[in-house]
Formats: sequence, C-alpha cells, structure tokens
Amino acid sequence: MTNLFTPLTVGPHELPNRILMAPMTRNRAPDSIPNELMKTYYTQRAGAGLMITEGTQISPQGVGYPATPGIHNEDHVAGWKMITDAVHKCDGHMFCQLWHVGRISHPDLQESNSLPVAPSAIAPIGDAMTNEGPKSFVTPRALETKEILDIVTDYVHAAECALRAGFDGVEIHAANGYLIDQFLRDGSNQRQDEYGGSVENRTRFLIKVVEAVVGVWGAGRVGVRLSPLQPFNDMLDSNPEATFTYAVNQLNRFNLGYLHVTEMGKETPNAAGPIFDLNVLRDIWQGVYITNGGYDKASANAAVSNGATEAIAFGTPFISNPDLVSKFQNDAPLNEASPATFYGGNECGYTDYPALNDA
Ligand SMILES: Cc1cc2nc3c(=O)[nH]c(=O)nc-3n(C[C@H](O)[C@H](O)[C@H](O)COP(=O)(O)O)c2cc1C
Repeated sequence: MTNLFTPLTVGPHELPNRILMAPMTRNRAPDSIPNELMKTYYTQRAGAGLMITEGTQISPQGVGYPATPGIHNEDHVAGWKMITDAVHKCDGHMFCQLWHVGRISHPDLQESNSLPVAPSAIAPIGDAMTNEGPKSFVTPRALETKEILDIVTDYVHAAECALRAGFDGVEIHAANGYLIDQFLRDGSNQRQDEYGGSVENRTRFLIKVVEAVVGVWGAGRVGVRLSPLQPFNDMLDSNPEATFTYAVNQLNRFNLGYLHVTEMGKETPNAAGPIFDLNVLRDIWQGVYITNGGYDKASANAAVSNGATEAIAFGTPFISNPDLVSKFQNDAPLNEASPATFYGGNECGYTDYPALNDA
C-alpha cells in the first residue's frame, strides 16, 4: 500500500519519500544573499523527499520582508549554488520557490522608496514588515498593462538564475496573497483590461508566468502553489471554487511536475470567500498532487494511502525536526517549534533543533 515512505516520481526526479518540506520564509539572508547558516539549515533537512525553499524574490521589486533571499543576481546564484551542492551531496532534492509579493511590500523595502505594485490600487488591511518593524500597508500602484509582461520577463530571468544555481526545479508561488494570487482573486483584482474581470482574465498572469518558466525549465521541473481558501494578506474572492477550478483546469495543459495546494484557511470557513471542498481540485488535476496544512504523521499517511493526495508538504514540523523523515520512520516524539524564532535571528530556533541521533 502506498504510504509516506513510498518513492514518488516528480518530472525527471525520483523522490525517496512523500514527506516534503513546505516553503518557509525564515529571514536569515542579510542583503538577500544565501549564506553558510542557510546551507546548514537546508542540509540538515535534506532527508525530505523534496525541499521547497523559502519564498525567494525574483527581482528587487518582488521583495516583501527583511532578509529574504533573492534569485536575480550573481551573488544570489553563487550563494544558492553553495547550498544546492551541499544538499545534493546528501542526496537531497530542492526546488526554489519563485516569489513576487506585489502589494505586500512597502516603500521602505523598494528601490527609490517606490510604491509596491499590484493588479489594482487596493491596500490590504494590516502591516508590512519593514527593517524598522511593522508599518501599515500602503495603497499599491496598479500595474500598467504593458508592465505586466516585464514582470513575466523577471520570472524568466529568475528561473534562469535558479537553473544556474543548481536547483532541481522551481515552484511558482501563486499562493498566500502575493502577486500572482492578487491577480487570481477578485478582492484584489479589479482591472478593466485583459488581466482583470472574468476568471479567464484573472488567470492570465499565472498562465503567462507558468508558460515562461516552463520555457526555461521544462514542465516536469516546475510546480505551482495555490491557496484557494487562504485569507492571509487580506485575501478574498467572491467565488473561490470557480476561480480555482478554472485555474487548475488551465494548468493541466502543461503537464507540470506537480500542483501544490495548501489547505490553509479551511479551518476558518468563508474568511476568504465561500468555502468549497478542495478535493474538487484534486479530482480535476491530472498530475502529481501535493497538499499541506496541519498534517501529522497519521493524517498524512491516511491521506496518501487513501489517494486524497500523492504527498504532503510539512511546514512547522520541519522547522523543529530537521530529521522529520527519520522521526516518522521511528515513531519518535517530535520537538515543538518555537514561533518566536520563526522570522529572523541567528542559529537559535533555526539550526539548533536536535535530531534523533543528537539526543
Ligand atoms: C515560518 C513560516 C514561514 C512561511 N513562509 C512561507 C513561504 O515563504 N512561502 C509559502 O508558500 N508558504 C509559507 N508558509 C506557509 C507554509 O508553507 C505552510 O503552508 C504552513 O506552515 C502550513 O503547514 P504546516 O501546518 O505543516 O506548518 C510559511 C509558514 C511558516 C510557519
């Protein structure tokens, strides 16, 4: 019977297990350059069937938080190459999560203190995270139609950088209220041009990015992450089922490595719009399906065994258990994660969680 320890084929890759590491921003890349400390963190977790990196900005404009890594200049390529080489020596697999935050940025983080960009000039409610701490989100500048293709070009450049940095693939971050998701959902997209209005138009930017990134990597080494029910970053859609079934149907035509749907938000029904059963997306999707959000070993094993998903991405359990796969294999107790050290800081709460054989 298929379970978490059954190997899984993703594009050209044979993953040794279905216990994947979810993308997690940890804000430990000062000046946006991947470093030795990050190398230690990722190599410690290389037993995951696949590690998806933290969100990694595709351009200076794409940044949204302090000390997040980039993948758009030669220093980024060199820093990540050092990490992917070390991970490959441990037989690990690693995809880079390509990220543009759109309206979730702040002028303090932007070149020339520019306004963040978005599909529409609608400020999210809440605070941006700047180097001086939280500051209210500003009203973003709505992108002009012709600028949208420039951002697609930035995705291509970042995808090329990720290829040279030795990653095994890339995950397009179309979730959690960042730029692509801002286009997808009508709460943040009220454009009048071919990128707004109908669900076909709201999906156009995602599809253009996928097409462009697939052009660099080949479809089997590209994944897409969606978060249909996620209210985080003040997200809302009038009909998430219609929006996301349409988007997933469109994505089917690429034969991508995987679709990654986080279930975040399903515990707060209707916060991001009318709730629907995410299994609908699983049923539509014709490739490898990954899900995420609140799973433990038992619920993950059940979901993989009964075919609800092919693999589970674990977030917080991987923060505090670098050897999560061994721990699951041995039914060992897990370390609790400490939220105080999630975002920023040093090795504390980052690379100092004990593994089983450290005890
Ligand atoms: C510290 C932290 C940082 C995160 N950063 C990202 C990110 O960069 N990209 C992303 O898609 N999701 C991000 N997430 C969401 C996780 O990928 C995942 O969806 C969430 O933790 C739920 O999974 P879990 O219940 O297994 O922790 C983050 C979550 C945490 C806790």
